[in-house]
Amino acid sequence: MDHFLYRDAELHAEDVMLRDIADAVGTPFYCYSTATLTRHFQLFTEALAPLPHLVCYAVKANSNLAVLKHLGELGAGMDVVSIGEYHRARAAGVPGDRIVFSGVGKTRAEMRAALDGGIRQFNVESEPELDALSEVAAAMGATAPIALRVNPDVDARTHEKISTGRKEDKFGVPLARARDIYARAARLPGLRVVGIDMHIGSQLTDLAPFEAAYTKVADLTHALRADGHRIDRLDLGGGLGIPYTRSNEVPPLPLDYGAMVRRTVGDLGCEIEIEPGRLISGNAGILLASVIYLKQGEGRDFLILDAAMNDLIRPAMYGAWHDIVPVIEGGAANHVYDVVGPVCESGDTFARGRPLPQLAEGDLVAFRSAGAYGAVMASEYNARPLVPEVLVQGDHFAVIRPRPSFDEMLARDTIPQWL
Ligand code: LLP
Repeated sequence: MDHFLYRDAELHAEDVMLRDIADAVGTPFYCYSTATLTRHFQLFTEALAPLPHLVCYAVKANSNLAVLKHLGELGAGMDVVSIGEYHRARAAGVPGDRIVFSGVGKTRAEMRAALDGGIRQFNVESEPELDALSEVAAAMGATAPIALRVNPDVDARTHEKISTGRKEDKFGVPLARARDIYARAARLPGLRVVGIDMHIGSQLTDLAPFEAAYTKVADLTHALRADGHRIDRLDLGGGLGIPYTRSNEVPPLPLDYGAMVRRTVGDLGCEIEIEPGRLISGNAGILLASVIYLKQGEGRDFLILDAAMNDLIRPAMYGAWHDIVPVIEGGAANHVYDVVGPVCESGDTFARGRPLPQLAEGDLVAFRSAGAYGAVMASEYNARPLVPEVLVQGDHFAVIRPRPSFDEMLARDTIPQWL
């Protein structure tokens, strides 16, 4: 459930008419609902409630400072994958001891900065990374809390590009090597083993792969404890999918996910960490665009919008579906459009043959489920200004990232003196 609903035939974000925001900000823009963020975060805390837990929001999904601050104030931890995301989380007021640092390629400089600023745990993904972290921490006279990300070789049955838990994926260390690597970690200076980490993929629409992976984690916990390690935390990753269409997609509910977590790892006495991104911010955001032109092609009608693949790349990159709805509730969806942007490549196509109500130049449309992996993946391709972001709470809204002016965009480049 989200808070983008029609009222008197007009799409609202909570109590604000999207048309009013469009008038004030211009299109395209992203709009997020605070109430939806809150609700989705709380679904996870409720689902895990009987267990000691920390919901570490995956910052990569939507890293706007206002979004992070709101979630941080609700008690969220953060999962970061770069020192840039770490700085964002800290700037949003999240303390270091609620931040876990994931990612396959942490540099020594990133490790140093995180240790210096305070960090809950590094999720280490390889032996070379383990050595590097040991060196960095020991040189600083610090102790780095670590969990090893294990690769359980489970197929998450999701899109090829966002599946991360099979042995051919670049993530984690093979489960079969885990005991040796933990033994090595225990011998290295500057490290303290605190738990186990995994993340098998994103947009999972079935609990079975999670269950298979978490069962392996439970077995590994027993084995590592028998080897003498302290395993106090299990970081189970993110990945729970969301419905991108209202019709046929029914991903598992967080409550059922929570019951499965209790069933598989609930009796180990560990603190549970999870790293959901999409489920918290995905349906808490839309991308709003205007129709620039309606163009009749050969046997097809193109709806040319002022939003493009640089603003929302998911359809071009993953063939992803986003529901597209008119802001003024239309009649029946009896017109079929190819929905495209103005960027100069055919990949700039949001949808082909999409049935929609009849639309005209100047009409506003909303892409649903765009709050995760939308603005964060935007670029200035074709010298298009980075799409602005707006946050709504109740009956008011604020611009939380303004559209840059062309002067600001130009000012970032420098022309060498010899030109
Ligand atoms: N933890 C780790 C270590 C991750 O790599 C990810 C996502 C998450 C947590 C959060 O997963 P979520 O709960 O959001 O599924 N750009 C793609 C998604 C990439 C996901 C990458 N990793 C998309 O637009 O679908």
